[in-house]
Amino acid sequence: MVIAIDGPAASGKGTLAKRLADHYGLPHLDTGLLYRAVAMAMLDAGLSLEDEAAAARAAASLIADKLADPRLRERAMGEAASRISAVPAVRAALLALQQRFAGSAVGAVLDGRDIGTVVCPEARVKLFITASASERARRRHRELALRGEETTLSAILADIEARDARDASRATAPLKAAADAVILDTTELDADEAFEAAKRVVDGAQ
Ligand code: C5P
Repeated sequence: MVIAIDGPAASGKGTLAKRLADHYGLPHLDTGLLYRAVAMAMLDAGLSLEDEAAAARAAASLIADKLADPRLRERAMGEAASRISAVPAVRAALLALQQRFAGSAVGAVLDGRDIGTVVCPEARVKLFITASASERARRRHRELALRGEETTLSAILADIEARDARDASRATAPLKAAADAVILDTTELDADEAFEAAKRVVDGAQ
């Protein structure tokens, strides 16, 4: 069983994906980490994020053990990831890797922006997780504060809105709900309620 979870920045899709993966005993891939790792490799090598050929090379040589680096969760990496993720050659290099993961014998849970539309269009279950921009900014602010990263709520809101606009307007694999996705608005839901709602969708699809 493949569960595809998409949604905008800080919508809670990562937390939800992890819980669903634990519950159903499936491997989980946070695909945002792949884009963040490509961006981090470029920044560490002193390369410009505008250099599309370098971005494509960094994506092609991505090493999975980089995905555990805590720096990947930093705000600047999300921002940088959103820039290089618009490069078609970067997306193409990461596509095979994601599809191999999704093809595991038991199934998988993948979360990102284009899982239901491009990476796993045949997924049994597709969820599109959303929440108001201000609620998402509040959640991300809390999360960064817990990790000791100091930022203002208004800066995060501006970040989130810019990132969503960029992700939704790019030509290749833009952020959007698949036509057959179930849309789950978590603005008024806590993590447990979102999990219960998602579980009902998954159980109903079996
Ligand atoms: O989900 P996360 O915030 O970690 O993603 C970082 C960035 O990576 C997103 O803003 C988006 O530009 C890009 N991304 C993507 N496709 C995915 C996952 C992430 O374009 N499947």
